Amino acid sequence: MMKKIGIVVGSQRNGSYTHSIAKEFLHLVPQGYEAKIFDISQLPIYNQDYDDVGPLPQSYIDFRNEVEGTDAFIFATPEHNRSYTALIKNAIDVASRPYGENKWGGKPGAVVSVSPGSLGGFGANHHLRQVLTFIDVQPVQQPEVYIGGVLSLLDEEGNLNKEDTRALLKALLDTLIAKM
Ligand SMILES: Cc1cc2nc3c(=O)[nH]c(=O)nc-3n(C[C@H](O)[C@H](O)[C@H](O)COP(=O)(O)O)c2cc1C
Repeated sequence: MMKKIGIVVGSQRNGSYTHSIAKEFLHLVPQGYEAKIFDISQLPIYNQDYDDVGPLPQSYIDFRNEVEGTDAFIFATPEHNRSYTALIKNAIDVASRPYGENKWGGKPGAVVSVSPGSLGGFGANHHLRQVLTFIDVQPVQQPEVYIGGVLSLLDEEGNLNKEDTRALLKALLDTLIAKM
């Protein structure tokens, strides 16, 4: 059976640099594996009333099922105020609930942070790793992937034009796959 990798992208911005980097994984997956970028843009901000009282948004039901049916994750995040984005946090929260029904747990996950700045989203990357520990995602520790100066790595169509960055993404993917 085809093994599934779900990519969580932390920006919905038109022309998002993080999305540009994340879509590279779609080309890098080897045979026997399927990668897709989750659509997390339609998930309402998590409110426990949805679970306790209802009605449950259909987007929550669909996303929770999707995460449950996925074998490994890649989290690609911009940095917002030295942390990962609220968009990713919301998706994590939605599929971690209701209490006792965390859909992320026990599966491997890799983190990529992306920034036009020189620090490569270090703060975002490590805040995200802290949360992945609690939801029991088995982290890829190495290689660490901090993509700084992203504008110099993309062409005008938003395609990656740097071979050593592509090799780093491939190394991350290979390590993730080895844990699946
Ligand atoms: C609210 C906000 C906070 C930001 N904080 C940071 C930051 O802490 N570090 C950083 O490198 N860039 C920061 N940026 C700039 C983002 O890196 C930049 O907007 C980037 O293009 C966002 O990723 P995207 O292209 O995938 O949408 C911030 C942007 C916004 C909107």
